[in-house]
Amino acid sequence: MKSKRVLLGKYTTLKVGGPARLFYEIDSRSQLQEIVRELKNKHLNYYVLGNGSNILASDEGVDVPVLKLRGDFTAITRRGNSLTVGSAVPLPRLMEYAGEHNLGGIEFMYGIPGTVGGAIITNAGTKDKWISSLTQSVFGITKGGFEKKVFPDQLRFGYRTAHFPSRFIITAVELTLHHVTKSAIKKMLLFYQQRRRTQPGGFSAGCIFKNHPRDSAGRLIEQAGLKDIRRGGAIVSPVHANFIINEQGKASAKDVWELITYIQHTVKKKFGISLQLEVKTWGRFSPSR
Ligand code: EPU
Repeated sequence: MKSKRVLLGKYTTLKVGGPARLFYEIDSRSQLQEIVRELKNKHLNYYVLGNGSNILASDEGVDVPVLKLRGDFTAITRRGNSLTVGSAVPLPRLMEYAGEHNLGGIEFMYGIPGTVGGAIITNAGTKDKWISSLTQSVFGITKGGFEKKVFPDQLRFGYRTAHFPSRFIITAVELTLHHVTKSAIKKMLLFYQQRRRTQPGGFSAGCIFKNHPRDSAGRLIEQAGLKDIRRGGAIVSPVHANFIINEQGKASAKDVWELITYIQHTVKKKFGISLQLEVKTWGRFSPSR
């Protein structure tokens, strides 16, 4: 299978990031197995790109091969209240499908832009409701290129975490929803839509930091007086301080990274709290201060 060179800024919602030197678009499980085995033989690691909504990619780009799943990985099949959802299905598409089939329980994911695979890897959701609560099993490919099915009790899901075998690539997820009326779904969606009003639009990677057990990252950053500060084309959102916005799409990854390290430094100094990144970094960044 042919790889190509692409700019990661085109594939991430923050719209920053240099070239992925090896970028593979993969349509089927057999293609995926083939490429994983090839990379294993070359002793190469890999990244899997979903919707790019939780990624900060370096301006210098990444040497690690990037795999983008599409084709067969975008299928949804239904048996009763149970859905088998391809890992490349965007969450908004899954929600639309669930609504069309009177299936509820997933409305709390409203507004999250990622793919289903990305949502599982990061156990996406709200503060208190996560996609793991709907997950029956996860299908994937091991680093050796073999198919494997894993279950939630093996994955030790936590707040924005899951423990997958190393280099496991999620291909599909089995979710259990429940039957509801369309009006009940509408009501729940309205509730979550209201909640999302506190979040800014524009180019961002969603929340930059995980919440700390002692307080929400957004409140800590605001109380440290950091709303609205900027570096180059990046700004700490005046709407929600845990969002960094790439204004006019002109920021670099370095601008975003400088804001991140400055926030970490200031919040640590003021409150003694070390904020941990929720977004994943790809490529090289200077060490945090
Ligand atoms: N707050 C401030 N200033 C701010 C932002 C928030 O004082 O600039 C305060 C709010 O007033 C509120 C509290 O902090 O009292 C919590 O804020 P919010 O309800 O917005 O929730 P959050 O903890 O900041 C979490 C998730 C979001 C998810 C929302 C909605 C994390 C890191 N964030 O945000 O997830 O959308 O709940 O349920 O867990 C993401 O993961 O990318 C993400 C955005």
